Amino acid sequence: MPTPKRIEWTPQFSVNVRALDEQHKRIFMMLDAINQIVRREKKGHDLIDVLDAMVLYVQEHFRDEERLLKQYNYPEFDEHKQGHKEFLRQTGGFRVRYFEGEEDQELGVELMRYLLRWVKNHIMVQDRAYSAYLNDLGVT
Ligand SMILES: [Fe+2]
Repeated sequence: MPTPKRIEWTPQFSVNVRALDEQHKRIFMMLDAINQIVRREKKGHDLIDVLDAMVLYVQEHFRDEERLLKQYNYPEFDEHKQGHKEFLRQTGGFRVRYFEGEEDQELGVELMRYLLRWVKNHIMVQDRAYSAYLNDLGVT
């Protein structure tokens, strides 16, 4: 099953906190870059390089998001942070498999499916869950 042609941030993903939306947009752009490599639309780009760049950026984003949630005593903070840790564990697992020599086309498709599911579940559900909480406290 092929991955979608383009991956882009749309307002349905908004968490209504401007700085976090901007970071999410950048993550989507990075997912699109990975997807283009997996779909072989971009030649000469190593899958692992863009994956590493994306994970590095996501780590930065998680730190910002967690700092904000902690600062405003978000009641689901621990569960939320757990979701971030799980993402890093999963993407780390793909990295290991890549270096163990797994065929990168198949691995890439599986990675993309994981990332798309994560975007839908984490950003659409878990991130949006803090949205109203922060907005009520005046954070936008
Ligand atoms: Fe999050």
